Amino acid sequence: MSKQARAIFGDFQTPIELAREVVDLVLVGDASFTAVVEPTCGVGSFLLAIGQRLGTAASCFGFELNPRHVAACQDAIRNAGVAAQIQHQDFYEMDWRSFFAQLPARVLVIGNLPWVTNAALGALGGDNLPAKSNFQGHNGFAAKTGKANFDISEWMLIRLLESLRGRPATLAMLCKTATARKVLRHAWHNDFGVDCSSLHLIDAARHFGVSVDACLLLTHTGVPNGDQRATIYQDLSFAQPLQTMGMASGELVSDVTAYLELQDLDGVEYRRWRSGVKHDAARIMELEPVAGGYRNGLGETWSLEPDFVYPLLKSSDLANGRLAPRRYVLLTQSRVSDDTGAIKTLAPATWDYLHVHGAAFDARGSSIYANRARFAVFGVGPYTFSPWKVAVSALYQELRFQAIGSLDERPVVVDDTCYFFPCESRDEAEFFAHLLNSEVAQRFLRSLIFFDSKRAITIDTLRRIDLLKLAARLGQRVQAAAYLVDAPFEEGAQQLLLFEGHM
Ligand SMILES: C[S@@+](CC[C@H](N)C(=O)[O-])C[C@H]1O[C@@H](n2cnc3c(N)ncnc32)[C@H](O)[C@@H]1O
Repeated sequence: MSKQARAIFGDFQTPIELAREVVDLVLVGDASFTAVVEPTCGVGSFLLAIGQRLGTAASCFGFELNPRHVAACQDAIRNAGVAAQIQHQDFYEMDWRSFFAQLPARVLVIGNLPWVTNAALGALGGDNLPAKSNFQGHNGFAAKTGKANFDISEWMLIRLLESLRGRPATLAMLCKTATARKVLRHAWHNDFGVDCSSLHLIDAARHFGVSVDACLLLTHTGVPNGDQRATIYQDLSFAQPLQTMGMASGELVSDVTAYLELQDLDGVEYRRWRSGVKHDAARIMELEPVAGGYRNGLGETWSLEPDFVYPLLKSSDLANGRLAPRRYVLLTQSRVSDDTGAIKTLAPATWDYLHVHGAAFDARGSSIYANRARFAVFGVGPYTFSPWKVAVSALYQELRFQAIGSLDERPVVVDDTCYFFPCESRDEAEFFAHLLNSEVAQRFLRSLIFFDSKRAITIDTLRRIDLLKLAARLGQRVQAAAYLVDAPFEEGAQQLLLFEGHM
């Protein structure tokens, strides 16, 4: 099979030893299964492993799209003396609900679904996807999950759990941990009636040669009002629990115990968190100060007026505590609605520079620039130019909040790999950075964050931390209130605080 075909079909066959370990774990809890289903059985590792353990006590069924795998699986099963029915079948064409309905209880659904995202399939030219009407119009899976890019195993797992709704069964599937989490969230949120769920981490690099966070997702269906929590275990056993994720206050949190202990910190966003500036033309917009002006990413040196040039810090700078800016950024607007034409008279050299490199701006693909000024930037407002900020990197595990100020009386700005809120003074920025770096704030934030996500730290997470309650916990409420009541950059915050003061 070519590398591309393997990618399209998410074809990573499970090594037999790993399948055996999974089967051992599943059967520890319950070995009374009378029907076993492997929905995309490949060459049959799981059917072999379970068939050899259960013998004739259970009827085994395997389904698979690739005819060569079907044949290989049939051979392997026959040679091992295992009784199983293997069928050539496209997952998407199968009526899973009717199929499960006619199986004798107790049912075990076990295996490892294709590892591929619909976006990757788009790039690879594959169409191994649910019926087009169900995803391209975003009225199927994307409508359910609110997003257009998804792992097809996520879609398949949800389909399987939906089909098992109301029926007692066990589901044990290898998948990415991010997929397991999203599937459980969906099941909990939509009252699928799952219970006793757990994630057991596996080493995907060792077993599959791919570097992703992966696990065995184990859950049980047919339990109305089942427990909306799942413990994450270090390995394929119940010996070493790491933490328990679950639904709390209507949202998925990564550590329910820590969250519940600190949930009073989940409150009002007194200072509005912001994303840094976005420009999508780094080689033109980002500049290095050199003798005679600024050098851009093309290696050209230009002498530009200082009016539109600001010191810049990026994610890696914040995460590594490199707070002396080494780069600058050209910000052509102070608000997204500004007409960049004003630069022509205010800063003719800068205008010239922008025009010479106009093609780089015209080539920016993102729809956010459509119908905007040619040299527009994104994510700017009065807050961008505040003299001080509390900022954090969105891309690093390091949750280190930094107080950043101005350089040569120019406010330091951050790019869109960072989040921040504006402050008026060094004291204020250092005060809030200190609060946010406290052990209690870090524990609270970590209880919300899933660090294996692509962009683990989100603005929605930061918004949840109540600076006033945090300060109160740390014995600094009066000082925090003094800063927050005077919030100069945000409307609404002051009223909130005053309102609370009168309660
Ligand atoms: C990650 S592999 C795992 C195979 C097997 N479950 C195992 O654990 O070894 C995914 C399997 O899904 C099969 N597959 C991909 N798309 C499918 C579809 N639409 N319907 C059925 N099987 C499919 C692939 O051919 C491949 O064998």
